[in-house]
Amino acid sequence: MTGDGSITSVADVPDDSTFLFTVRNTETDERKEAILVRLNDEHNDDEDAITGWLNYCQHFTHIKLDKGSGAPMRDGELVCANHGAYFESDTGRCTYGPCEGAYLTELDLEIEDGTVSLADDDYEFVATGPMETDDLDLSSKSNYEF
Ligand code: FES
Repeated sequence: MTGDGSITSVADVPDDSTFLFTVRNTETDERKEAILVRLNDEHNDDEDAITGWLNYCQHFTHIKLDKGSGAPMRDGELVCANHGAYFESDTGRCTYGPCEGAYLTELDLEIEDGTVSLADDDYEFVATGPMETDDLDLSSKSNYEF
């Protein structure tokens, strides 16, 4: 990948929650939400160890883990607030809940000089924060996109 997929600085990824951003599938052009997760000591001694995942539960795949204010985490695992599934933050594997054994979709990252970048052949970084949604925010409906 090109080196221009910078997402954010390592310092901006929270300890016990997630950093939300938007990506674009390079083949289908579809936008998706994604999250960065900082691995806890239990998984890794490197305080800069961060993983990236698409922001969707594997039980109902339209359900977002991070609904805009950070996904809940417990003992270093991501928690889906809808039906309480747990996902390992280093492997993405569901360890408990209705989709036990399923895996979150991983995004390849590159961490260099304190910056986290997307280095995934299938996705391009679009912006930090949630996806723009036309259907919910009627007040700011506009024909202009950036
Ligand atoms: S939608 Fe996530 S556990 Fe059911």
